[in-house]
Amino acid sequence: MKIPLLIAFSGLVGAVIAAQAGSADTLLEKHTSELQSATGLTVQYTLQVLPGGGPQDYVLKLGKNGKFRLESPDETIVADGTTVWDYKKSDNSYTQAQQTDSDLKAFLKRDAVFPWVAFFVKEPFKDTTGIKVGSSRIMKGKAVTDVSMTLPGAPVRTASLFVDNTLGVARGGTIKSGEDGQTILMAKELTLSKDALADSTFSFAVPDGAKKVDPATAAVSFDKVAKIFNTNCIGCHGSGNPRSGLDLTSYQGVMTGGRGGAVITAGDPDNSRIMAYLKANGKPVMPPRGQLSDGDLQTIAGWIKAGAKQ
Ligand code: HEC
Repeated sequence: MKIPLLIAFSGLVGAVIAAQAGSADTLLEKHTSELQSATGLTVQYTLQVLPGGGPQDYVLKLGKNGKFRLESPDETIVADGTTVWDYKKSDNSYTQAQQTDSDLKAFLKRDAVFPWVAFFVKEPFKDTTGIKVGSSRIMKGKAVTDVSMTLPGAPVRTASLFVDNTLGVARGGTIKSGEDGQTILMAKELTLSKDALADSTFSFAVPDGAKKVDPATAAVSFDKVAKIFNTNCIGCHGSGNPRSGLDLTSYQGVMTGGRGGAVITAGDPDNSRIMAYLKANGKPVMPPRGQLSDGDLQTIAGWIKAGAKQ
């Protein structure tokens, strides 16, 4: 009688050990080393901004030496290591500029690429705290394990990665912002390659009739500014219970401002309070996870300069 019981018991111990094999640190180390050692990454995924947003199709491609390409329904941003192009579909226009280190940094701060920054960043979880393994489940046909964490910076935001049990690399993740704001990314296809992606992947073909605009004067319409707010701010500055009383979901809300008063001084970006937050100029940086791209900052400043019209 004793022997079968012992076998049953050791079987149980085995199962417990197997479940623990993927500790949070091991999972994140493997995820990082797989991305670091790859030469190319291609991800087709959906990105959904809650509350309210439906899933949108995105394609991300990364290559060593700062090469990246991100296609979303609104925008294509491409960098080949020396030049960066940013194409806005809404008005069929693009900017072209010499690529600098800050372009890659700004790109990697986008929520849309958050699960895969380890491709470029050696220690992406260095300042991350509260790392915990959650449950394993099937996501779009693949077995994944959730790893949750608290992101550095204020106010505190939590995030999770959905790590592929076979590949060892995240197939997506979530970032929570505010009480009910959440961005969810889920890969349909993810390919790591040992060979570099074709050069053409990171070149920009000017779409039919697209006009080239100077980044400094590119923006005057509120639509473009509203898009930036919708993507980066309304998780916390929504219409329900906006942080600091600032509702960024409408033109009226933007012009009304927050607890500290007006945030826009039409015609004068340097004296508009919103710019101090966006540039972390004596104020907490907005969005708290990191600055907007230089292009987005110029869009907002350009719109204010042109009179902050609706
Ligand atoms: C993760 C939540 C979060 C996100 C995302 C966020 N904010 Fe904020 N925002 C806050 C909090 C919290 C405060 C109050 C901070 C303080 O004053 O210490 C604040 C305050 C502000 C203020 C000051 C308002 C006033 O009058 O007091 C401005 C301006 C602002 N945010 C702009 C933005 C913009 C623009 C974006 C997007 C580019 C953004 N925020 C994204 C949380 C957020």
